[in-house]
Amino acid sequence: GRAYAIASIPGDGIGVDVTREARKVLDRAADRHGFALRWTEFDWSCERYTRTGSMMPEDGIDRLAEFDGILLGAVGFPGVPDHVSLWGLLIPVRRAFAQYVNLRPVRLLPGTTSALAGRTVDELEMVIVRENSEGEYSEIGGRHNTGQPSEFVLQTSVFTRVGVERIIRYAFELARTRAGRVCSATKSNGLIHSMPYWDEIFTEIAAGYPDVHSEQMHVDALAARMVQRPDLLDVVVASNLFGDILSDLAAAVTGGLGMAPSGNINPPGEHPSMFEAVHGSAPDIAGKGIANPVAQILAGAMLLEHLGQLDAARAVHAAVEKVLAEGAVATPDLGGTATTAELGSAVADAVG
Ligand code: NAD
Ligand code: IPM
Ligand code: MN
Repeated sequence: GRAYAIASIPGDGIGVDVTREARKVLDRAADRHGFALRWTEFDWSCERYTRTGSMMPEDGIDRLAEFDGILLGAVGFPGVPDHVSLWGLLIPVRRAFAQYVNLRPVRLLPGTTSALAGRTVDELEMVIVRENSEGEYSEIGGRHNTGQPSEFVLQTSVFTRVGVERIIRYAFELARTRAGRVCSATKSNGLIHSMPYWDEIFTEIAAGYPDVHSEQMHVDALAARMVQRPDLLDVVVASNLFGDILSDLAAAVTGGLGMAPSGNINPPGEHPSMFEAVHGSAPDIAGKGIANPVAQILAGAMLLEHLGQLDAARAVHAAVEKVLAEGAVATPDLGGTATTAELGSAVADAVG
């Protein structure tokens, strides 16, 4: 069978634990479906930063460029400022490889309980298409420290026509393969340059998809809808910051951060794409061996799907669903007492 070269960057905190379990499950799926994953592990992390002064080596991006895919744990840990660690690893990888889509599927799985009372599986099935390369996450700006009460800082958002068009187009194309609805997160009542521009481009592109139902909602109202009427949502397209916030909210309404996967996708496939859980390094539970590995395992399934190994991806999904539905092996966030490794092994065994 075919062999794929995969880079693994476990990173910090629970990223290390959940990535170990995801690899266990992915290797089992590869074995059962007649292909191989050839892993190269990189120790890029806050620990490395503390030792060497950088999150990754100078040629880090070049080294990743040759891989078929990247599995990332989490980046960031107390002791290193978050803007240093994240802008030293995660964000440069997303940008260098033009991973301009951050795809965050949201699904209530059987056997898990939504934070929303009375919601059933078919009422909670959406996907967040988050812009992942520009917008509010910008290096433009600066501090004007004067020590006076009049001091201020500036943080400038950057929305390019190319950047906005491609993410919105991606959302409409995706909607055609799903329930055929796109909801755009805006805030053009408060932000008077960026979001009116985003809305204009959304309207232009929507006109080319008369078969897709399109609507725009201010992100504050959309947050409320996500809790009260999530059944009305299918594809949600959002800017970098809005998409970040909405994706943790969406995770919470479908069983928590331990359940939510994501893919940083380079749609043309010219560069490697990177898969990771939506959650971070969870310093509050790091080192305890109790993190839920499901989000990272499902991110691994997205990686398999991206590689074209659809049967293997489906098998991983089915294994997760089986183990969750049985309920015998569950981490504390799911109401059980299992360890990260026990849940990972149960899923691997369910793969076959
Ligand atoms: P977090 O997602 O790490 O944790 C938020 C809460 O959710 C915590 O209570 C944590 O225990 C819980 N949680 C998260 N994942 C869990 C899992 N798999 N199982 C059980 N519980 C889980 O968010 P944070 O505390 O804001 O961030 C911690 C660090 O991670 C920060 O340095 C942050 O910048 C970084 N971070 C990195 C990424 C990334 O690498 N993609 C994403 C988010 C945050
Ligand atoms: C995520 C994270 C990152 C983001 C942070 C850690 C920079 O929250 O992947 O959701 O906001 O993109
Ligand atoms: Mn986030």
